[in-house]
Amino acid sequence: MTITAENTKGMKMSDNLSKTAETVRVWDPVVRVFHWGLVATFGTAWLTAEEIQPVHEIAGYAVAGLVGVRLIWGVIGSRNARFANFVKGPKETLAYLGTVKRGTERRYLGHNPAGAAMIVALLLTLSATALTGWMMAEPDLVAMMPPLPQIAAPAWADEDEGEYRTGRETDGPIKEVHEVLANLLFLLAALHVGGVVLASVRHRENLARAMVTGEKRAPEPGDIA
Ligand code: HEM
Ligand code: HEM
Repeated sequence: MTITAENTKGMKMSDNLSKTAETVRVWDPVVRVFHWGLVATFGTAWLTAEEIQPVHEIAGYAVAGLVGVRLIWGVIGSRNARFANFVKGPKETLAYLGTVKRGTERRYLGHNPAGAAMIVALLLTLSATALTGWMMAEPDLVAMMPPLPQIAAPAWADEDEGEYRTGRETDGPIKEVHEVLANLLFLLAALHVGGVVLASVRHRENLARAMVTGEKRAPEPGDIA
């Protein structure tokens, strides 16, 4: 269904009535604890990097643990937590972004397609950051893993010989990758919060608060529940 100026106006009028309107539960406790736990552990890992290294590593592993739980919950969790119910293909995501540009985007009770794409990007980048951190901190364990494909191995061996199998690998290419990924995460998180603010303004609801309480304004005509 396409939204016309008329029914957009209608939705806004009903928004004004929404102070007393009913709310519905959208985010289950696992999603909420995951989210704010992630903000805390990611923030701690970010602030302690190269400053308080043991805390950095514990926080980084906690990030990995939370992401692991969320991946499982994305399959077995409640309706709005399941990836199959909110991750969309590029076509639908771009079409949604087009409606955002025109200011006619529909309100989603769960994650909207652009938010969903960002969630996928964040989860993948968080996983890769934690993995490269672990590879740096535990090179001996990494050495016991199956060998890397031959294209990657020679370059790797050249740069890190000697250091790779003993002690910590905090000077080689893995560190570079870890750093780039961490910076990318910072950018993605900033865009994510920007998207949350934009959607909150457009739909006149505090989405950050909804991630605390789990509740959002009940769906109205035109919304996608
Ligand atoms: C303090 C700043 C932040 C605020 C206010 C915030 C707010 C939110 C909100 C409102 C949602 C739900 C979006 C929706 O309605 O569709 C959400 C989802 C999410 N946010 Fe944040 N966020 C913040 C920081 C972060 C950071 C730093 C990360 C990761 C590095 C992050 C990762 C995620 C993820 C993965 C989800 C998906 C939640 C799920 O379905 O499990 N957020 N965030
Ligand atoms: C996913 C969350 C993580 C984030 C956001 C993160 C971020 C960072 C950042 C920004 C740096 C500084 C890089 C530089 O400027 O050179 C760093 C370094 C480092 N991180 Fe992480 N990291 C994470 C997870 C981990 C994990 C799980 C480990 C290992 C257990 C780890 C181990 C390291 C090590 C060994 C360094 C190098 C410290 C040094 O140079 O002595 N990180 N990390």
